[in-house]
Amino acid sequence: MYRMGKEEIQQLAKVIEAKDLFKVNSGLQQSHQVETKLQTILGTKHPIFMTSGHAALVSALVGMGIGPGDEVIVPAYTYIATAMAVVAAGAMPVIAEIDDTLTLSPEDVERKITKHTKAILPVHIQGFPCNMDAIMQIAKTHNLYVLEDACQADGGTYLGKRLGTIGDAGALSFNFYKIISCGEGGALLTDNRKIFENALIYQDSSAIAFFGNQMEGFSTEGFCGNEYRSNELCAAVMNVQLSRLDDILFDLRKNKNYLMENLKDVCEFIPSNDAKGDCGTTLAVRFESEEKARKFAEHESVQGLLPIDTGKHVYKHWTPIMEKRGACHPLMDPFKMEANKDIVPDYKQDMCPITLDKLSKVVYVGVDPDSTKAELDAKIEGIKAAMKTL
Ligand SMILES: Cc1ncc(COP(=O)(O)O)c(C=O)c1O
Repeated sequence: MYRMGKEEIQQLAKVIEAKDLFKVNSGLQQSHQVETKLQTILGTKHPIFMTSGHAALVSALVGMGIGPGDEVIVPAYTYIATAMAVVAAGAMPVIAEIDDTLTLSPEDVERKITKHTKAILPVHIQGFPCNMDAIMQIAKTHNLYVLEDACQADGGTYLGKRLGTIGDAGALSFNFYKIISCGEGGALLTDNRKIFENALIYQDSSAIAFFGNQMEGFSTEGFCGNEYRSNELCAAVMNVQLSRLDDILFDLRKNKNYLMENLKDVCEFIPSNDAKGDCGTTLAVRFESEEKARKFAEHESVQGLLPIDTGKHVYKHWTPIMEKRGACHPLMDPFKMEANKDIVPDYKQDMCPITLDKLSKVVYVGVDPDSTKAELDAKIEGIKAAMKTL
């Protein structure tokens, strides 16, 4: 989260003064406005504002009819919540390598497809757009769903289209660490009516039939699902945050471009599937060895971070997944379900060596949308000084 101020306080005060906190029947319609803004800003037909990015991912998978007996291909480098969402839907996460862009490798996706594969789940990690043309083509050839995890890429684009709106569905996160935030929150994006109806029921299954006219015109009958309904307090904040989104992205990209332009003679950056669409949150410098990457990252004027050190973003640290503990109750555990018995993956610590290698030779340097030119120039000098020590 980069910017927040009195506008958010004013909107929150309105909700509190009205004592009108419920999403569905609120007089202020803050949640409804969030969904309208998601439609107009992002260009998606059926957005659902809910409690988290994970909730949006699970709801999308359920909306696609994915469950036990199905495989979903996820990248080896993403936050553990991506893979957990697949397990929450009852399916098996199949882990694939990343490529030089640090996003899902289309080549490895092709290798990992089996007759059980139902969906590809590309992740626009750190706001880096995935190779969506290649992924969409593979999905078309093999008749698979595509669910984009854009939880770290709110508002980013790929060839002019907003991330999360290219596949059959997408998920955004508005937790504290994201480009925009309402504390905790998320959104499912889809143009697919069937996915929308299933997901809307799933994410609010006890209330859906009783409040408002949410199921009017539905061809789907209600079923037991979950309670991921958001509220008007979070929506009040998110309404303002969404109106800030494009300005934040503009400043992030401007500052990242300035850094890259002034460092291009001394640094090698990771390639991008669409540099214009990249969210600009992260400068990613590539080195020939982990040793050099670590020396650079530790330099006092850099204070960088190697993605290999980001804990639960690297598959080998997804402990409950790697150790196949898919639920509290054994009969509810997808790793133990009869329908999955032939497709439980054989996860190994070293199963994605390309991913581990790439993540240990890159250093992330954070980009701040509010840096002054003097601060950016100081950062450039600091990085140049660190490069000289290698
Ligand atoms: C790539 C990715 N996917 C999913 C999530 C889950 O989002 P949330 O925390 O809103 O549930 C996160 C959260 O950090 C994430 O980074």
